[in-house]
Amino acid sequence: MPRVTFIHPEGKSGNVEENLTLLEAAEVLGFPLTHDCGGNASCTTCRVDVAMGGENLSEIDFEEQDLLDREALTEAYHRLGCQARVLGDVMVQVPEQKWGDTTLSDQDSSENAS
Ligand code: FES
Repeated sequence: MPRVTFIHPEGKSGNVEENLTLLEAAEVLGFPLTHDCGGNASCTTCRVDVAMGGENLSEIDFEEQDLLDREALTEAYHRLGCQARVLGDVMVQVPEQKWGDTTLSDQDSSENAS
């Protein structure tokens, strides 16, 4: 089973079933990756920066590329957690500007609104 690591102050790492999305992997590992649109490729709150193992993620499909382009997220390491599927070991960083959004309890989210 592939090993997935989320780099974050409260980051998680562990083995997950192959072909899960990064968002699904986060849920399995107990890491609260934000996903405001519910995983429908329309918000980018699940966006991560691939640190290692980008070749072990599924290819970017049209929906993911379209949203990344619209949000000017054009670097090769930009991926949407709800769209990228885990095919092998991968390490991703939750962007630092989103660290305040990724809390372990829903009640904290109002404190982080900006
Ligand atoms: S959860 Fe909204 S784009 Fe991934």
